[in-house]
Amino acid sequence: MKTLLIIGIGAGHPEHITVQAARALARVDVFFLMDKGDHKGKLNALRKEILERHATPGAYRVVEVRQPERPAGPDYRTSVNTLNARKQAAFERLLDDAVADGECAGVLVWGDPSLYDSTLRIVEAIAANSARAVHYEVFPGVTSIQALTAAHRITLNSIAGAVQITTGRRLSAGMPEGVDTVVVMLDAQDSFKALVGQNLDIYWGAYVGTADEVLLSGRLDDMAQTIADARQQARSQHGWIMDSYLLRRRV
Ligand SMILES: C[S@@+](CC[C@H](N)C(=O)[O-])C[C@H]1O[C@@H](n2cnc3c(N)ncnc32)[C@H](O)[C@@H]1O
Repeated sequence: MKTLLIIGIGAGHPEHITVQAARALARVDVFFLMDKGDHKGKLNALRKEILERHATPGAYRVVEVRQPERPAGPDYRTSVNTLNARKQAAFERLLDDAVADGECAGVLVWGDPSLYDSTLRIVEAIAANSARAVHYEVFPGVTSIQALTAAHRITLNSIAGAVQITTGRRLSAGMPEGVDTVVVMLDAQDSFKALVGQNLDIYWGAYVGTADEVLLSGRLDDMAQTIADARQQARSQHGWIMDSYLLRRRV
């Protein structure tokens, strides 16, 4: 039997890691690091810093693999399914070739594994194949949502209010009905701009928890262009952006 630990490592701050996750890191013999091979070197640097702090010195190996490409295509879900199948094949090869029977492998997941991350779906599919005896455990992490609300010193929900977590792509269809708070992740456009004039506040954060953190907040009507400009500036400075925001109906 091989064991696979899926460990949430927080969304950027090296101290946003739970005691339970730190203990799990210390159990691991082999870490699988899936590298995008692009300019996101700082994310990998954080992963390595976490290993140096919490994994057992001299007792673990690191196997780095290039993350497979997501194929371009009109249907987003189909292209993500293809990407996940490619990742599954890569993880299966790693489990077969780099982990001995009785050993423990670890996968570090950005933020928490339950939130906009496919690792659990992939590992579930691997473990379902009885040809491979794999036991897996999941360790929660601080999400980018928690990092964002803490950085802005705000609550996630209003009193007795409902919250929806969504993507920039979906927000383009408008503010969802029946909720007064929306958290938006994975926004490749400035989808918030479409909601100007709807009496909302915005709390935006980029690279939250890291040394590059940028925070902006206020009435959406006043802040939309400032945030769009800040996103543009951050993208040209760093070559990529990792940001989220919370929108709340004003009372
Ligand atoms: C694929 S999702 C992964 C989310 C992650 N599992 C979590 O628990 O936060 C990536 C998105 O999370 C958000 N994100 C992750 N880290 C962030 C950070 N440090 N600051 C702001 N947003 C972040 C961004 O919206 C980014 O596009």
